Amino acid sequence: MELMETILTRHSVRDFRDEPVPEEVLQDMLEAARLAPSAQNRQPWRFIILRDREKIRSLAANCGLIGLSNFFIKKAPMLVIACADTDKNLRVNGQDYYLVDTTIAFHQMILTAWSHGIGSCWLAAFSEKKLKSWLQLPKSWRIIALSPFGYPAEKTGVYSKVLKTFAGSKDRLPLEQIVRYLD
Ligand SMILES: Cc1cc2nc3c(=O)[nH]c(=O)nc-3n(C[C@H](O)[C@H](O)[C@H](O)COP(=O)(O)O)c2cc1C
Repeated sequence: MELMETILTRHSVRDFRDEPVPEEVLQDMLEAARLAPSAQNRQPWRFIILRDREKIRSLAANCGLIGLSNFFIKKAPMLVIACADTDKNLRVNGQDYYLVDTTIAFHQMILTAWSHGIGSCWLAAFSEKKLKSWLQLPKSWRIIALSPFGYPAEKTGVYSKVLKTFAGSKDRLPLEQIVRYLD
């Protein structure tokens, strides 16, 4: 898929088919994340992959997901948890860049997945404290996001339908509202 087509067609996917994510697609996703730019090339991102059904169900039950909506992750064939090692952080102008760096890398992963037809949904509504303890992560690590990955199911479930009513997929601000030319 061309980059612009990938960007134009990507949307959050919350219902997945049973099929696993092919190994070569996962490797492509990881390579896309690995090659992301980062402040002073510190590369603070760390990724945890879960493909075992039992582990995915257990994580869903133990990560303090907020609201029933996020229980759809139980049905995904793969989860990726995007973390950042804050020991690798670069602080400039009062900004911590580990968050920016990891976000860029994770979105490169998400776009690459979509270019292979693999859907995902960035999730923020979980308890970092609970998930960190369940995963037994080092103290210096933060969890930036998690996402299920898999081929989109043909039929969307109740959660997706409800979410779309207030977080409409194609709803975006017009350019006039977000761009200011100073030429
Ligand atoms: C930082 C961030 C956090 C998000 N958290 C959640 C979440 O916890 N649960 C969820 O269902 N979707 C979540 N989303 C997905 C957004 O609702 C979705 O991206 C937005 O509505 C636009 O729709 P689209 O991704 O289909 O274009 C999140 C997206 C981002 C970027």
